Amino acid sequence: MTQTTVITIANQKGGTGKTTTAYNLACALSDEDKKVLLVDFDPQGNLSMCFGIENPDQLKFSMFNIMNALMSDEPLPAPDEYIHNHGNIDLIPSNIELSVAEINLRDELGGEKTLTTLLESMKQRYDYIIIDTNPSLGLLTINALAASDSVLIPVNPQLWSATGLTQLLKIIIKVKKRINPRISIAGILMTMCDTRTNLYKEAYKLVQDYYGEIIRIFTSQIPLSVKVGEANFYSQSLMTYLPKSKVTAAYQNLAKELMQHEYAQAKNHS
Ligand SMILES: Nc1ncnc2c1ncn2[C@@H]1O[C@H](COP(=O)(O)OP(=O)(O)O)[C@@H](O)[C@H]1O
Ligand SMILES: [Mg+2]
Repeated sequence: MTQTTVITIANQKGGTGKTTTAYNLACALSDEDKKVLLVDFDPQGNLSMCFGIENPDQLKFSMFNIMNALMSDEPLPAPDEYIHNHGNIDLIPSNIELSVAEINLRDELGGEKTLTTLLESMKQRYDYIIIDTNPSLGLLTINALAASDSVLIPVNPQLWSATGLTQLLKIIIKVKKRINPRISIAGILMTMCDTRTNLYKEAYKLVQDYYGEIIRIFTSQIPLSVKVGEANFYSQSLMTYLPKSKVTAAYQNLAKELMQHEYAQAKNHS
């Protein structure tokens, strides 16, 4: 297996399409024969629900137990207790208890590396590890960034905020300087795009003007589609629920763009 790429999906605003992107990007990569680990790192457990876990709060083992075991140097539960599987995709679920782990992280020496420790031990089994984060720039998101090679930032034109994005970029730069020098920004992904509206056109222009020269804006843009909510509701990927739709094609193209970019980078470095 080639090198594993760890990608955090981050934006401290809720409703920018982080969870939808984490899930459908994983499914699109899996269709390209990639082995993927999804990490639900949001106490709301939305990604776990997309994956088909109806009530994450009732799980016996979730990210909370793993984080606590790592922080107290206790043995981890057996992997089949906390890893859920569908074909090429594994998932480590989360639930509301993860917010307790976030509080415990505050008092933990070197706590920001807790998730890194877990993922380092699992990396060799996957081509991609995709981490879905909660809408905040707190200790959970910092843990995710510390463990990642790159960050993918979904931006919803309806919720565009230059200040918000600048805050996120500042945190990424701090993490790079202080904790994880290998982190880079994979790119900005425009989500929920209704390209006919002036709002979309205005927001896209602002993203380009502010960031176009320093950050890649993915060519793939995710269209706005009411079907996305339905697919999420039925715990189905867009590839299964709507194989022929534009929104599915957009996530498939995003997966290809990501894979090509890594190949180009690897070539540049060799
Ligand atoms: N392309 C899209 N078109 C329409 N609705 C979408 C799209 N992507 C996500 N949604 C819906 O928007 C809401 C927020 O998406 P979600 O992925 O949960 O964002 P986040 O994880 O950033 O909070 C959900 O109800 C989801 O079903
Ligand atoms: Mg989410």
